[in-house]
Amino acid sequence: VPGARLKMSVATKALVAPVQLETRAPRGDDYGAFGALLLDAYKDTVDDEGETLEEAEEEAKKALGGGYGTVLWDASFVVSRGGVFQAISLVVEGETGPLLAFVATAKACQRQGWGAKLISLSLDALARSDHETLELHVTASNAPAINLYERLGFQKINPS
Ligand SMILES: CC(C)(COP(=O)(O)OP(=O)(O)OC[C@H]1O[C@@H](n2cnc3c(N)ncnc32)[C@H](O)[C@@H]1OP(=O)(O)O)[C@@H](O)C(=O)NCCC(=O)NCCS
Repeated sequence: VPGARLKMSVATKALVAPVQLETRAPRGDDYGAFGALLLDAYKDTVDDEGETLEEAEEEAKKALGGGYGTVLWDASFVVSRGGVFQAISLVVEGETGPLLAFVATAKACQRQGWGAKLISLSLDALARSDHETLELHVTASNAPAINLYERLGFQKINPS
C-alpha cells in the first residue's frame, strides 16, 4: 500500500550552485536506460513495490510519452555514461504548473550532490522560461528525498 503523499513547492529562483556535472536532456527513446535507473534507485526504498525491469521500463515509457503530463524537455536533465543513466530530473507540465515527476540517482552515485544539482538545473531552466514555481509529490516517509527538497527550499503545501 503506498504511503501518504505530501505536496511541496519551491520558487524557481531560489538557488544553490553545487557540483559540476555533465548532463543532457532526456529523449523519448530513453525508456530503457531510464527504467533501469528507476529500478536501481528505488530498490529497498519506501517506494519500492518490487517492480520488474519490464515494469520499470513501462513506467519510464509512460513518463517520457507524456503520461504524467507533457515532458518539459528543456527543464529535464540526465547524467548518462556510456548509455547508462546515473541520475535524472524529469519535469512535466502538471495540472497546476511544472511538476517534478521524477528525480532519481543510481545507488552507486548517491550522496554526491547529483540530485540537488539536477533539480537546480531544472529550476534554472524553469526560471528562464518564466515558470515561477516547481511542485512535486513525495511519499511522507521518504526522508532522503524530503531532506533533499527542504535543503533546496521546497516547502510543504497544505492540501486545500
Ligand atoms: C532522493 C535521491 C534522488 C537523492 O539523490 P542524491 O543524488 O543522493 O542526493 P544528493 O547527493 O544531492 O543529496 C542532497 C541532500 O539530500 C539529503 N539526502 C540525500 N540522500 C539522503 C539519505 N539517504 N538520507 C538522508 N538524507 C539524504 C541530504 O540532505 C543530502 O545532503 P548531504 O549529502 O550533504 O547530507 C535518491 O536518494 C534517490 O534516487 N532515491 C530513490 C528515488 C526517490 O525516492 N526519488 C524521489 C521520489 S519523490
